[in-house]
Amino acid sequence: MSTRGFTSDNASGAHPAVLAALGAAAEGHAASFGADRLTAALDERAREVFGPSATILPVFNGTGANVIGVTALLQRWDAVVVSEHAHLANDESTAPQLIGGMAVRTLPAPAGKLGVADLTELLAADDGSVHHARPAAVSLTQSTELGTVYTPEELTALVRVARARGVRVHVDGARLANAAARLGTSLAALTSDLGVDVVSLGATKNGALFGDAVVVLDPALVEPVARLRKATTQLASKMRFVSAQLLALLTDDLWRTTAGHANAAADHLAGLLRSELGVEPAYPVEANAVFVPVPQHSLGAVTEQLPVLPWERDVVRAVCSFDTTEEDVTTLVTGLARLLR
Ligand SMILES: Cc1ncc(COP(=O)(O)O)c(C=O)c1O
Repeated sequence: MSTRGFTSDNASGAHPAVLAALGAAAEGHAASFGADRLTAALDERAREVFGPSATILPVFNGTGANVIGVTALLQRWDAVVVSEHAHLANDESTAPQLIGGMAVRTLPAPAGKLGVADLTELLAADDGSVHHARPAAVSLTQSTELGTVYTPEELTALVRVARARGVRVHVDGARLANAAARLGTSLAALTSDLGVDVVSLGATKNGALFGDAVVVLDPALVEPVARLRKATTQLASKMRFVSAQLLALLTDDLWRTTAGHANAAADHLAGLLRSELGVEPAYPVEANAVFVPVPQHSLGAVTEQLPVLPWERDVVRAVCSFDTTEEDVTTLVTGLARLLR
């Protein structure tokens, strides 16, 4: 099996600028727990990127960012509303319940996106009864778990529905960079500009070695998020090494270059699937993930022999990275052509 992988965008290594920033951060000594100059510089940069009310709190991973960010929005009797495909609902074990003590309510989400009508109906159905978890927050994944992207208009409509009911909004932005790169927007245009309360900002999947962040957009949430970060074991003592990576990605908008490259590789893969194999991806390719329909009888061979992830019963996932090459894509398509024939 090829050592170059498409199972996830965390199969890739780290961008040279990130590694250089880590190397520089390792020189000398620095204050711990975020009191260092790199974390201060990151916070300043985050305010330039997300607006003056933003505070960025680096964490170790995306599950931690999601659980901390959403927990800060909820009381002990509350629920977060998510898409049925949400990482929060399916891929974080019981962390949301165990750590955040929250109920997770899922809604159908064709192609990964929550719909205004479904969200409106769910929120309107809440009768205030103590017998039910109160839907107090909604979490939107951008780009989605199915590689699709909410437009700013779709986000605006969903945020409006939530706000009308006093419901807070979290964005799972493990791949926010891919969405913004695709739409040609700023990161703020998909978050702070729309009235989002808190964002999980991914870096691991976009060229970092490890580390993500919670970006708090409502200043009243800074203290709860900071306290939760420590209480949930996500506070790094040598935080400068997480901060250095995030800062490298936010400097000169490196995040857009890396995410744009991954998106373009996904487009190239989707194009070759169509032209060489006559296969149409299972979902619109709007970010860096391509979902490839595979007949049942070929599924075993495909997932054993090719670096893709089994997804649904007859679909595999191929995610492109910041360093996916044309040769990587061609090799994958050649392998698929051999096994699907
Ligand atoms: C949509 C989404 N959110 C969050 C995460 C973060 O997960 P992790 O805790 O593995 O960093 C992932 C990673 O797969 C993801 O795809």
